[in-house]
Amino acid sequence: MTQPVLEISHLVKQIGAKTIINDISFSVEPGEIFGLLGPNGAGKTTIIRSIVKLINKTSGDIKILGQDIDTNHIEAIKNVGAIVENPEFYPYMTGLQNLKTFASMSRKKITDERIKEIVQLVHLEKAINNKVKTYSLGMRQRLGVAQALIHDPKLLIFDEPTNGLDPEGMKEFRLQMKDLAKQGVSVLVSSHLLNEMELLCDRFAIIEQGKLTHIADMKQEVVANEPQLKTFHMHLEPLDTAKQLLSSWNIDYILAEDGTAHFFIESVPSDIPQLVKNLALADISIFTVEPQTKSLEERFLEITKHNGGSMQ
Ligand SMILES: Nc1ncnc2c1ncn2[C@@H]1O[C@H](COP(=O)(O)OP(=O)(O)OP(=O)(O)O)[C@@H](O)[C@H]1O
Ligand SMILES: [Mg+2]
Repeated sequence: MTQPVLEISHLVKQIGAKTIINDISFSVEPGEIFGLLGPNGAGKTTIIRSIVKLINKTSGDIKILGQDIDTNHIEAIKNVGAIVENPEFYPYMTGLQNLKTFASMSRKKITDERIKEIVQLVHLEKAINNKVKTYSLGMRQRLGVAQALIHDPKLLIFDEPTNGLDPEGMKEFRLQMKDLAKQGVSVLVSSHLLNEMELLCDRFAIIEQGKLTHIADMKQEVVANEPQLKTFHMHLEPLDTAKQLLSSWNIDYILAEDGTAHFFIESVPSDIPQLVKNLALADISIFTVEPQTKSLEERFLEITKHNGGSMQ
């Protein structure tokens, strides 16, 4: 078994009488992009701040590549690159000067060659000699990623990295992360946007009110979401004849709640053409035949509906 890059066990954070993080455990594997998904105030930033020790956890263990962040802090943290909150840059310096300044603060010797490599990786070659104050949000974000990458970490941590980015910027970030993951870097990323997590992550944990309520595995979710049976929406007239026919053919259906002739039929897709033929032969008018695909959003709402929870 490979060693997890990040291992969180029974993390608890209390502030005063309030339990902000309530017994959260998960681990991130090498080359995995792992998400923390949750609404505002769920505890995502607190988890991330605990990992990079911007705050002290109340209890639980956090290990990075097997090194405990409390007892082996230097060893543990040297494998981490993080952007928590907005990365700070000197606006009157160029991107390159900012990166060099940051590199000079690293314990590791960072060569100019390495900086050049990273600039290419985040596609900032053209703008790297311009002052950061002239950068767009997307460019700043890429410079932030470059900064996090400078000491060649095994684990990258980003808190809401795509906040404020346009769809193009989000896509670019996504591709960049996938590239890095392919090279074996693990990524922990938080967001309150389900769609984004779905596109970006291999797995993500749903965090609600300080608790981890579900871990979604995108590979398994995709497999699990290819069922034999699908629900088909059919608008069939006249209503009563259609009802009688479907019952006589032993086909289960649910009718629209408003009493209109909209049927929801569970069937394997390959049976649908024959059913349509039979209905047509029986003089039923078929206005609609539409497969109902359950989005991840709906499944997510199903998972979280015990809390009435929505992410957005
Ligand atoms: N220093 C603090 N003192 C008291 N409560 C705090 C403190 N820091 C965070 N909290 C509370 O902890 C909870 C979790 O906050 P956190 O910032 O981790 O949530 P989040 O999931 O990152 O939310 P967002 O999506 O808004 O960034 C919130 O209820 C917040 O009010
Ligand atoms: Mg936050």
